[in-house]
Amino acid sequence: MIRPVLRMGDPRLLRVAQPVIDFSSSELVELLQDLRDTMAHLDGAGLAAPQIGVDLRVVIFGSEDFNPRYPDASPVPGTVLINPHLEPVSDELEEGWEGCLSVPGLRGIVPRWRKLRYSGFDVHGRHFERTVEGFHARVVQHECDHLDGVLYPMRMRNLANFGFTDELDHAAENSLIDEDQQ
Ligand code: NI
Repeated sequence: MIRPVLRMGDPRLLRVAQPVIDFSSSELVELLQDLRDTMAHLDGAGLAAPQIGVDLRVVIFGSEDFNPRYPDASPVPGTVLINPHLEPVSDELEEGWEGCLSVPGLRGIVPRWRKLRYSGFDVHGRHFERTVEGFHARVVQHECDHLDGVLYPMRMRNLANFGFTDELDHAAENSLIDEDQQ
């Protein structure tokens, strides 16, 4: 079921979410389906349970239509991650643009660990671990921040790099035109 996504300002987005204890409950099955439906409907890169008002440490991200014949077509496989644990592989940070379904219409530059190892449980309650970098690493950090009540603007170092997506796109187009005319 498609659920409404809470927006920044709703205090439920600022809670530290609770770990999942029962991996066989029908509530968890239903939650995962709602997260998938809602993320697909809004064309999101990821979604965390707190964003639909559920106080559990569950995130989904990546593309469900990952095609194994074209592994390069999707850099982030469709993933369910429950009770995650993240640790950086190095202390190298990387700046990159992010948006969030709870902060609609806006975009900002956020520093993240460039490379990290994450672990947690899948939909069947099986433990798994991955070492990732770049966009995949960024998405995991963004989604798992939601489980600790952190929204990406709270991580930004320079609010001059924060703006409405359509204005930023417009500005980028204009600067390309300026370059062409020179
Ligand atoms: Ni988000």
